[in-house]
This record gives sequence, C-alpha cells and structure tokens, in this order.
Amino acid sequence: EQIEKGGYEHFMLKEIHEQPRAIRDTYRGRLLRDEAIIKMAGVEDNMKKFLNANRIIIVACGTSWHAGLVAEYIFEEFSRIPVEVEYASEFRYRNPVITENDVVIAISQSGETADTLAAIKLAKSKGAFVFGVCNVVGSSIARETHAGAYTHAGPEIGVASTKAFTTQITVLTLIALRLARAKGTMTSSNFRLYLQELELIPQKVEQLLKVDEHVKEIAKQYLLSTNCLYLGRGYNFPVALEGALKLKEISYIHAEGYPAAEMKHGPIALIDDRMPVIVIATSKGHYEKVVSNIQEIKSRKGKIIAVVTEGDTAVKEIADHVIEIPESEEAFSPLLTTIPLQLLSYHIAVMRNCNVDQPRNLAKSVTVE
Ligand code: G6P
Repeated sequence: EQIEKGGYEHFMLKEIHEQPRAIRDTYRGRLLRDEAIIKMAGVEDNMKKFLNANRIIIVACGTSWHAGLVAEYIFEEFSRIPVEVEYASEFRYRNPVITENDVVIAISQSGETADTLAAIKLAKSKGAFVFGVCNVVGSSIARETHAGAYTHAGPEIGVASTKAFTTQITVLTLIALRLARAKGTMTSSNFRLYLQELELIPQKVEQLLKVDEHVKEIAKQYLLSTNCLYLGRGYNFPVALEGALKLKEISYIHAEGYPAAEMKHGPIALIDDRMPVIVIATSKGHYEKVVSNIQEIKSRKGKIIAVVTEGDTAVKEIADHVIEIPESEEAFSPLLTTIPLQLLSYHIAVMRNCNVDQPRNLAKSVTVE
C-alpha cells in the first residue's frame, strides 16, 4: 500500500496532487488546439441528438452532482442549451417528465452508483438519449448508457472524491465547447481562446499546489471548529458546495455551502467570532458583490478565509487569510478554486486524526439505495 501511495501519506493527498496529470490525460487526444477542434467520438456520433435536444438533464449523486452543477453554468453559457441538474435518487422516484427530445447525462466516478443507474434506466425507458461520464472503464453505467466519454483520472482510492471531480468538469467543458461550435453559439476566436486557456489549466493547478504549506498553517487555526460556512457565486457556487462536502466527509465538522448572495436569507444569523467562512472571491466572478458579502461577515466578527485571484488587493485588506489562485477564464476557475478547498479539508482532517481515506459510515461506491 505504501508503494501505491507513491510517497504520500494518504491516497487522498496523492490524488489531489495527481490532478494536473489527470486533467491533461482527460483532454489529451480530444482537444486539438492546432486544428482548433474538439474530437470526442461519443459526441460526434450522436451530434444530432445533442443538437435537437430541448434540454439536457444531468443526473448524479454526491460530488458528481456538484460537477453537474458546474456543467450547468458552462453548458448554458457556451452552448445555450437549458440544463437541469438532478439528484439521481430524487429523479428516479418522481415520475419526471422526460421525452425523446431530452438528452440525459449521467455522471459517475465509479459507474456503479445504484440510484444513478436506476435513473438511467428510467430515462431510457421514456426514450431519452443517455450519455455517460464515468471514470471506471467498463462499469455498469458505462455499459448501460447509449454513449459516453470517460474521464481519464486513473483509479481513485480515497473515498472523498478529488481528481474525479476536476476531470468530470474537464470532460463536460469539452462537450459544452464542442456543442457551442456545432450550434454556432460561440465565435471561432472565442473557441480558440478557450481551448488555449483549458490547456493552461494543468500547469496552473501545478503552480497552485504549492499553496499546500500555507493552507496547512490556516488549517491549524481551525481544526477545533464545529461549523463552517462556504460561499461562492456563479461557477463557484457549486465549488462552495463541494468544499463543504469535502470538509464534512473527512473531518466530521459540520459545513454548509451557500450561494454568497443567499447568505442574507439565513446563514448570516449563524456568524460570530467562532465561525470560519470560506469565501471564493475570484476577480471576474461578481467580485464587488462578493467583497460586500465579505464585509458583512467581517462586521459580524466571522473569520474569513478567502480564495482570491493573484494580485488581489481589496479582499486582502479585510480577510483573515487569503489563498491566491492563478488568473483564468471565470468558466474554468472551478478547476482551480477547488484545489485549496480540497487541501484545507485534508489538513484539518489529518490534524483531527480522522481516517482521511476511509471516513466513517461512507463508501467509495454506493451500490445500494
Ligand atoms: C459516494 C462517494 C462520493 C461520490 C458519490 C457518487 O458517496 O463517497 O465520493 O461522489 O458516491 O459516486 P459516483 O461513483 O457515482 O460518482
């Protein structure tokens, strides 16, 4: 097992550090920048289905559901196709309205999640075209779907999902970009720009992983917290949900993720000097509005850990801690903002002596309802 961990203390840490490679492997051979094309057989062969779709319904559970939420923002922005994101467990028992003109995308790392598999079967029985995004090759979901695209993350052992999440977002981004070109909802110059930007992500993640020691120092100050709030907006709202889920899963600290602007409708009542609030405040993501949220937290004495874009000045003045991420297109920022949140929950969990790779009561793959 020590050899498998490749010198890291836990699989989770190894998998966090594998993300530059995993993301690159996921777009390799699909993103052809010189030719300015995206090539994915599963999408190409079914292009008509995608182009005729009235909407896309994404079904998934857990972290994969969060990747679906990020994809909702990306698909709607790039390809102008309405998207709904559903918990597979709710969808399958709701007598949902599905037609032959719907495309269902099922996202699953393991490809074995019982609820997601059942949602696929239901969608198929109503005539929808079902596309799978799985990590495990030959898994049940990969076999049950009409077509699909694998994430090439490699085996993920840690129960808390890390590299599966960022590679799912990568695959879904490729699909959204491909459809944007096919539909003409993105200019060819923007398309080229996005391809270029996506190719830069692995090296930015690599650079970002150097914040590890800094994040560890922050973790030391919050390991005895009992509650945490995570806030983000737009593309980074789902990242706030995912950050909170990661912390709950492995450190057993209660955490909630919220869209930053919704704070005033509830969570603000919880803020006092014992409440750490992790805020994603990237420079292109409704920045001023998030800064004013940060001020509201500050005036209630909440402790602020802010994830900001390099070169930020305004948030630095107010926040207790800042973690800088490299600049990127806002649509791709979840691939970066997620990384420090993974590291934060990892370090807090390790310092609390929790079993990081196999947290209590959780399973890597949930094959029962
Ligand atoms: C379990 C795992 C999570 C995962 C979820 C969905 O809860 O612990 O990490 O996100 O199942 O799994 P899937 O394999 O379908 O992505």
